[in-house]
Amino acid sequence: MVPRAPLSKMAAGLFFICFLIYLVIITRLESGQFGTVSDPASFSSRMLMNHPTSGSGDGILLHDTISNSGVITAIDNMVNQIGTAGTELTETRVKDISNEIAKQIADYVVQKLGKTATNSNVCYGCWKHGNNTDLPVIYLVTPTYRRPEQIPDLTRLAQTLLNVPAVHWIVVEDSSSLSTVIASLLKRYGIPHTHLKAQMPEKYKKSKLKPRGVANRNAALDWVRSNCKSGVVYFADDDNTYDIRLFEEMRYTKKVSMWPVGLVTKVGLSSPVVNNKGVVIDFFDGWMANRKFPVDMAGFAVSVQLVLEKSDVYMPYVPGHEEDGFLKKLDITPTDIEPKADRCTQILVWHTQTKSNSPANRTTAAGKRYKGTNIDMLQEWIV
Ligand code: UGA
Ligand code: MN
Repeated sequence: MVPRAPLSKMAAGLFFICFLIYLVIITRLESGQFGTVSDPASFSSRMLMNHPTSGSGDGILLHDTISNSGVITAIDNMVNQIGTAGTELTETRVKDISNEIAKQIADYVVQKLGKTATNSNVCYGCWKHGNNTDLPVIYLVTPTYRRPEQIPDLTRLAQTLLNVPAVHWIVVEDSSSLSTVIASLLKRYGIPHTHLKAQMPEKYKKSKLKPRGVANRNAALDWVRSNCKSGVVYFADDDNTYDIRLFEEMRYTKKVSMWPVGLVTKVGLSSPVVNNKGVVIDFFDGWMANRKFPVDMAGFAVSVQLVLEKSDVYMPYVPGHEEDGFLKKLDITPTDIEPKADRCTQILVWHTQTKSNSPANRTTAAGKRYKGTNIDMLQEWIV
């Protein structure tokens, strides 16, 4: 028997494969699945996400995968439909289609980033807790007041908190009215929040050493007592620097947890002293001042449970003694203190004080020639 030439064998195989591809293409074209969108309005971002459309089944790609090219092809198809779907090309229609395209892209980005966030360390807390949605909430109390650095400081803190799951930001303004700039900042970042105001009593405003942020924090304590059942309270001033790992350290606080704070006094540090058994035996701080708890405001967190139990405990209006006064009234023993940040060997928060800038001269920007312009609007921001 004469063996067949290997070349003809290959040619036959190739022909068969081509025929199969042809069949697949023809079938898809007939069912309208290949690159056509019969009606731009029925186009759904689900088709880009590999999510089946909920029963509409109107000839669109149901099983495409998430990919840049998937989005681009889909948008190309929508653009190609303009003017050819038998409808008049009005400004409204173009706007509708543009909006729809923007929506597709936004959905795509959100889904894609959402995926990335859980798969990588983009959100430290999300990564640490996996799919656990049952986390204790951190009630982060931030006193704030109007000054040139206020919005930059709050912007930085907001962007830190974007990386923290299960956080509720209680922003309390030392002001007679709520700032619209802060309200829109809070809304824009979408962090769960409560926006309150509580003014420093007049009598303290005149003194040289002011009890800063005390009225604000006490108003937040009232809010927590009326609105929360569990979780943890942390007093986070607006001008500090927070490593996002800190929030995961404090999240499961039973009573009171503590950790080191950097950039405090001339010694550059405030921290509990922890022995080799992991027990807090003392405190290290450049300003002991006869305090039982010589700690920084940023150096401890308290469980909501304890705040509820000690329902009459507030922060005293005594400059420098706010933390000590508050902690003393909580009736805690040294063994109640949970040292965090790897037995207080890590600095995860710094008492950075933003450089104080002199108030701006608003008169130039307030001039008549800027009426109705962007400069007029920026006035709101100038302090
Ligand atoms: C330190 C402590 O970290 C504060 O917690 C403490 O309240 C303060 O000293 C004090 O003993 O008086 P420090 O950096 O010196 O903080 O103070 P600021 O950052 O100026 O103020 C603390 C917080 O209160 C900030 O969040 C700030 O925005 C707010 N604050 C300050 C007001 O709400 N009103 C004010 O008049 C001043
Ligand atoms: Mn400060």
